[in-house]
Amino acid sequence: MLIKSEASKVRVLVTGGAGYIGSHTCVELLNAGFEIVVVDNLSNSKIEAIRRVERITGRQVPFFLADIGDQAEMRRILESFPVDIVVHFAGLKAVGESCEKPLLYYQNNVTGTLILCEEMDRAEVRKMVFSSSATVYGDPHTVPITEDFPLQATNPYGRTKLFIEEILKDLVAADRLKQADEPWTVTLLRYFNPVGAHQSGTIGEDPNGVPNNLMPYITQVAVGKLAKLRIFGGDYPTRDGTGVRDYIHVVDLARAHVKAVEAQLDQEPGQVFTYNLGTGTGYSVLEVVRAFEAQCGITIPCEIVGRRPGDVAECYADPSLARQELGWQAEKGIGDMVRDAWRWQSRNPEGYPD
Ligand code: NAD
Ligand code: UFG
Repeated sequence: MLIKSEASKVRVLVTGGAGYIGSHTCVELLNAGFEIVVVDNLSNSKIEAIRRVERITGRQVPFFLADIGDQAEMRRILESFPVDIVVHFAGLKAVGESCEKPLLYYQNNVTGTLILCEEMDRAEVRKMVFSSSATVYGDPHTVPITEDFPLQATNPYGRTKLFIEEILKDLVAADRLKQADEPWTVTLLRYFNPVGAHQSGTIGEDPNGVPNNLMPYITQVAVGKLAKLRIFGGDYPTRDGTGVRDYIHVVDLARAHVKAVEAQLDQEPGQVFTYNLGTGTGYSVLEVVRAFEAQCGITIPCEIVGRRPGDVAECYADPSLARQELGWQAEKGIGDMVRDAWRWQSRNPEGYPD
């Protein structure tokens, strides 16, 4: 286990560090004593998030406004700011948009990652923690989901995650064949449903336009920006007929990245590590709504409508591998998730200022 004084000698490049999960992870990496540098093209985020990370932690964050697919720029950054490991969040993540614009998703997520990896390789930085998703399990045959379940993509976004996982595994396999001295090491983190916000209420999820995801939709109904929640499907084979998901507090998720970085730096290189990051507990849509109403004292008008195409009935993790190997488990419950999501939304009804 790395101690804080050793962490201070390790510099982490955080791609997509201005985004929702990235900004929370920057806070936890800085709190754990790491040096960080952020690269983000701000295509789905605002620089204000980085300023607030600096305010929360009292640390300065070197920031590069750059696209991971800009090879010359990535080379310049890695030359001027040598790093030891990369935590790779940068990517587009809207399932619906990916069905309309698959080329954009393959270009941004897959080609962007290829270029990032090429430049990491050139700079001899062969350690990466990658943001994957439970979406790589497609429609699971049963729950809870363990890491060895069959993988399957049901939309172009999910396929970018699956392809990137495979590409990263190939890098490790190739170095193993070559018996490389400094081989690639990769940690694939498969997130379930990240929700909530930092307890300060100063950083959180700031979706563009009408949210697709449940929690920001609920908080925008609560703040009066949207009239009512439409619940997609009341006839699933679940305890109350609504879809069940494994919601995980974003601060718990961010702390898992710190553990993953520490573990990778302590491990023998040349390996692939894969972990589910969830709580292991599923909540239905109605249970999340009721939890929000009880904790925040606001009624959420709801209407049950038809199922959303592509949704599965139930999806929750078996997170025991991350507990055993990373010494990480989620500590925050659904009450913390809804309270912290609400604190962020009510204090920042318009999200981050431009
Ligand atoms: P986000 O959109 O808030 O953050 C992604 C960040 O990456 C943004 O700041 C965006 O500006 C940046 N970015 C995108 N493309 C880039 C590029 N080519 N070059 C540089 N920067 C770029 O999303 P998030 O919720 O924080 O998700 C982070 C990662 O986790 C993504 O890879 C996402 O696919 C993955 N993930 C998210 C969820 C979720 O529900 N939020 C679930 C599973 C996996
Ligand atoms: N839901 C509603 N109404 C809404 C929004 C969502 O009823 O307005 C329901 C959905 O039908 C589902 C649950 O709330 O049952 C959660 O939906 P989200 O859209 O919040 O999350 P998903 O599980 O559909 O998808 C999330 C990420 C994906 C990722 C997937 C698996 O958004 O990117 O988890 O990790 F692929």
